[in-house]
Amino acid sequence: MKKLLILISGRGSNMEALLAANLPAQFVAVIANRPDAAGLDTARQAGIPAQCIDHRAFANRDAFDDALKQAIDAYAPDLVILAGFMRVLGQSFVEHFRGRLMNIHPSLLPAFPGLHTHRKAIAMGCKLAGATVHFVTPDLDCGPIVIQAAVPVLENDTEHTLSARVLVEEHRIYPQAIRWFCEDRLKLLADGTVQLLQPSQVSDSAMIVPPLGA
Ligand code: GRF
Repeated sequence: MKKLLILISGRGSNMEALLAANLPAQFVAVIANRPDAAGLDTARQAGIPAQCIDHRAFANRDAFDDALKQAIDAYAPDLVILAGFMRVLGQSFVEHFRGRLMNIHPSLLPAFPGLHTHRKAIAMGCKLAGATVHFVTPDLDCGPIVIQAAVPVLENDTEHTLSARVLVEEHRIYPQAIRWFCEDRLKLLADGTVQLLQPSQVSDSAMIVPPLGA
């Protein structure tokens, strides 16, 4: 059974969707970078070890990344899941977890990396918005795409109404992506894309991780 570790910064609704999804996996820990992250209590109530590593306690990004890396490694997870984790992680952290680090981003990547995705989609007159689950590479909100979902942008949408519509899809596609990972059905290809294997194609060597940048 795969061991999963979740990183959060706030309310943790994506984390809750994962915990509720009855995945064939063990959630080994939840770690937040903010002590007031509401998701920490939710995780504890679900019986999952939850801790905070406050990024403000560290002199610089590398020091925080190192402490986070050590805390994660102590649980030896198969996959680290960024679920509303609002800190940029440095190159050495990302390389350490290459092929074992997944993120959900509230836009149809490669459109609108970074913050305020819904505001930007409305301002650009987009007719579709959505969410993307992807493996993490050192470039912000980049990396091999696992699954996406699109929703319409409606005429009177505000950032609030659009984000609520997208969030429903986030809660659907993130558990799906993690389920595929748990079933060894995600194959990272050398061209930087992800192939979804059929169950009959799964073998012990399915998870082929090419060198970063290959
Ligand atoms: C989600 O929209 C996620 O895509 C983004 O931050 C938000 C976090 O929400 N990265 P939650 O903490 O999972 O409720």
